[in-house]
Amino acid sequence: MSSLIFALTDEQVQRIRSVFLSEMELGLTKEGQQQSSLLMENTFLPELPNGHETGEFLALDLGGTNFRVMYLRLEDGQFVEEDAQMFEVDESTRLGEGTRLFDFLAACVHQFLQERHPDGRHFELGFTFSFPMTQKSLDVGLLQTWTKSFNASGCVGEDAVRMLNDALQRRGNVNVDVVAIMNDTTGTLVQGAALDARCAIGVILGTGSNAAYIERVDRVRKWEGEHNGIKEVVVDIEWGAFGDNGVLDFVKTDVDKAVDELSLLVHSFTFEKYFGGKYLGEVLRQCVLKAHERGVLLEQLSERVRTAGAFTTKHVSMLEKDTIDGTISHCETVLGALEQSYSPADLVILRYICACVTVRASVLISACLSVLLQRLEREECSIAVDGSLFKLHPRLATLMERAIATLAPGRKFTLFLAEDGSGKGAGLVAAVARRLRSRN
Ligand code: GLC
Repeated sequence: MSSLIFALTDEQVQRIRSVFLSEMELGLTKEGQQQSSLLMENTFLPELPNGHETGEFLALDLGGTNFRVMYLRLEDGQFVEEDAQMFEVDESTRLGEGTRLFDFLAACVHQFLQERHPDGRHFELGFTFSFPMTQKSLDVGLLQTWTKSFNASGCVGEDAVRMLNDALQRRGNVNVDVVAIMNDTTGTLVQGAALDARCAIGVILGTGSNAAYIERVDRVRKWEGEHNGIKEVVVDIEWGAFGDNGVLDFVKTDVDKAVDELSLLVHSFTFEKYFGGKYLGEVLRQCVLKAHERGVLLEQLSERVRTAGAFTTKHVSMLEKDTIDGTISHCETVLGALEQSYSPADLVILRYICACVTVRASVLISACLSVLLQRLEREECSIAVDGSLFKLHPRLATLMERAIATLAPGRKFTLFLAEDGSGKGAGLVAAVARRLRSRN
């Protein structure tokens, strides 16, 4: 059973931690960055909000199947007005031609402004683009690779801000200036810092997973060009790709290989596929298939359960809820919806497997966070987290708190939800960008 549920040994967890740290260090050097699986990008954001941010901003949030356009009004660092519209990005747009994707984004911005701000006034805009980028400055971000459910053509290597600006030009009649592009983890860190001044790490546990943190500039050894005397900068780790060079193969199981094979972009984003919200349900389903093959779970599998994607991350949360409450009602609902017959023993084993999947997720995430806490050497550090996996899972936060405390003994930390980091964070970063520009 232990190989089936892939519990991690203490030695493995310590090895993950040390490999993560060396991958980070490698990723921060010019010579090593190609070998490191972590994309470790300088975001060129040298400052966090200072509580004086005031003004009206637009924010865009692209990363999942919904694209959001937002109007945000800030007064002294506080959001006093918010207005957002959501647009679904259908599969053909996500997987089609890049120009079509960006034309779609421009059309959404245009529609939003026509409907909500038809006076044609000028806005500065912060763009949350939740994909790995090589940033050249706060407002230039070259897409390194698509992840999650996007694979539009002609975008890799291109500047997402330029593609957006070109599309806005083609559309016409949109008076905006894209002043900053950022990852959702950067947005979450910034929003987190606005809520809690001790915040130095932003994490996304959503469809995908990633973290950003505040790094000392002297440690960002690959940074060429002017530093303008700044001491710290936000670094986007892109930990979803951790292990793409094989350094995590010692914890990779058959289940993980199967999940990868079924994903849109195979053989990439190893770490993210171990627990990201887009994949966790499939991790559970693959475990269920294995347990069934070994004769310990479900006598006959339903057609639905045999189908990839049958279990979702929401199901993982539901089954976990039963484990916490000592009930079986959610298990029954989930299996019922999947037209799966079961015995009372099946319910016990299913919940157990689900608990193992959850615990592994929490340990993997915590291994990396404990390394970051030790690296940051702060007396107290808050970790801002956002994303559906974190919000909906009934005990992931608690498990993480315990695991981090064990792995980073003596480090004082708080884990907290920074709701809508990718939206509000983009507004705040646009405000910080205005401040930086005003100094030049
Ligand atoms: C994927 C993206 C990363 C993003 C994360 C969470 O890992 O590559 O940029 O931060 O998903 O949305």
